[in-house]
Amino acid sequence: MLIHSALLALGATIAAAVQPLEAKDNYFINPKTGNRFQIVGVAYQPGGSAGYNPALGKDPLSNKDICLRDAALMQILGVNAIRVYNLDPNLNHDECASIFNAAGMYMLVDVNSPLVGESLTSDKPWESYYASYLNRTFAVVEAFKNYPNTLAFFSGNEVIFNEENGATVPPYVRAVTRDLKNYVKNHVSRPIPVGYSAADVRDVLFDSWNYFQCAIDGEANDMSRADLFALNSYSWCGNSSFKTSGYDTLVEGFTGSSVPIFYSEYGCNDPSPRIFTEVQAIYGSEMTGVFSGGVVYEYVQEVNNYGLVNLSSDGSADLLSDFYSLRDQYAKLDFTQIQGAKPPSTAAPKPPTCSSKLITHKEFTTNFTLPAVPPGAQDIIDKGVSPAPSGKIVTIDSWTVTHEIRNRDGSILTGLAVKPLADDATNQPGTNAANGTATGTGTGTGASPSATSKNAAGRTAAVALPVTLVALVIAAIAL
Ligand SMILES: *[C@@H]1O[C@H](CO)[C@@H](O)[C@H](O)[C@H]1NC(C)=O
Ligand SMILES: *[C@@H]1O[C@H](CO)[C@@H](O)[C@H](O)[C@H]1NC(C)=O
Ligand SMILES: *[C@@H]1O[C@H](CO)[C@@H](O)[C@H](O)[C@H]1NC(C)=O
Ligand SMILES: *[C@@H]1O[C@H](CO)[C@@H](O)[C@H](O)[C@H]1NC(C)=O
Ligand SMILES: *[C@@H]1O[C@H](CO)[C@@H](O)[C@H](O)[C@H]1NC(C)=O
Repeated sequence: MLIHSALLALGATIAAAVQPLEAKDNYFINPKTGNRFQIVGVAYQPGGSAGYNPALGKDPLSNKDICLRDAALMQILGVNAIRVYNLDPNLNHDECASIFNAAGMYMLVDVNSPLVGESLTSDKPWESYYASYLNRTFAVVEAFKNYPNTLAFFSGNEVIFNEENGATVPPYVRAVTRDLKNYVKNHVSRPIPVGYSAADVRDVLFDSWNYFQCAIDGEANDMSRADLFALNSYSWCGNSSFKTSGYDTLVEGFTGSSVPIFYSEYGCNDPSPRIFTEVQAIYGSEMTGVFSGGVVYEYVQEVNNYGLVNLSSDGSADLLSDFYSLRDQYAKLDFTQIQGAKPPSTAAPKPPTCSSKLITHKEFTTNFTLPAVPPGAQDIIDKGVSPAPSGKIVTIDSWTVTHEIRNRDGSILTGLAVKPLADDATNQPGTNAANGTATGTGTGTGASPSATSKNAAGRTAAVALPVTLVALVIAAIAL
């Protein structure tokens, strides 16, 4: 604490930690303020699917300079969360996780990857459900559990996408969710939520949601119940509307959910460029009672043309039209009000009891007897992954972005750096004034900037400052 006060006296930058969030009933809650949390996220996969290459030792959160560049641009954009799909648990993610944490952004982490043996398959899920696959998902939990900004784990992504696999896959996804939740319960000091990211295929969507949120035998503490339900939805295209897009039927369908609901991907790109008018609906009064925000697909431009930012091989980046329209849509929102909302005082919806009555399509499974934990896996759930990867928040010695960033008009965006936020703050529009015109204060929603960064139970506060300054202070104290 002595060093800490001395640093404050010198006006050093303190990079504090975001407040770990909880999934409570049907909402994400900041346990410190009691406020609901709305996800304002982007999908983050620099390099596209090639950006994940365990053989080359790279994944989207393993390069500090790239994460600095992107976290700074995301601060300008106004987002407070990233979704990351393909991670190698054995790489070191400390710098990237610390950068996004300091930038006020949470991480939604997929525990699977498209590589063989690293996800459930849709056609014969029983062939892909075995101990070393589960061990891989648990290793991702180990690698990310210590970061305060780890918001949730996805136990699966779009494994169910038609009536045929709706008949066979759900029990396996629910079994993986169960195994992950038991792993978290045994080996993680806080209940990081686990849930499924669904394809918005309406024939299986609501049956999937009910299948995962229901309580077997009415047991509210049933470990196989999902903690959240997310969907990848592209039904709002161009200048659509709440009704035309079918968002109204989503809100109606998910009303009464016992778990948080959000878009784990959204952003139809036909027509393109996008105007993102759905942002006003997603964070507006017609939706926020049922939805907890969403994740825009996706930050980096790929051939499928969903990008906000076009990266070049030298690490420089061009901001695309979609970047500006999304930023402008976020800027219109009143985040103080949106992130300051309390859950209603009325009783939260109870999970329904699992029963064939919940399932509406005749092909969709009504079998709630889950597959048994595969041979060898219970031992890992009990004793932990061995050897287990381990992450921690670290000091970042410079917040300055070294890559060149070009505005839409070709001009260079100067002075770009990540702006570390105050303790407990999350990012929102205005926190990073790097483009020279915005006038943010740097204290995001839910901020209670505290001069004395505490190490409360179960969370890590990081003190980040230039190495030279540390040396200076230590020298000063020594005197
Ligand atoms: C489990 O995962 C760890 C970390 O990736 C790895 O070192 C270990 O070999 C794996 N064990 C099994 C049984 O797959
Ligand atoms: C979208 O449509 C509404 C209503 O027709 C109109 O007021 C608005 O200007 C349009 N917005 C854009 C960005 O085209
Ligand atoms: C992105 O950059 C590449 C070259 O690096 C270029 O060929 C492509 O047209 C750019 N895409 C967009 C949407 O600007
Ligand atoms: C339900 O699934 C379990 C586990 O996969 C299986 O053993 C059982 O035979 C299934 N029941 C029916 C009626 O298909
Ligand atoms: C800088 O940000 C302001 C406010 O968000 C915006 O109006 C302006 O267009 C931006 N300038 C550039 C060059 O991006």
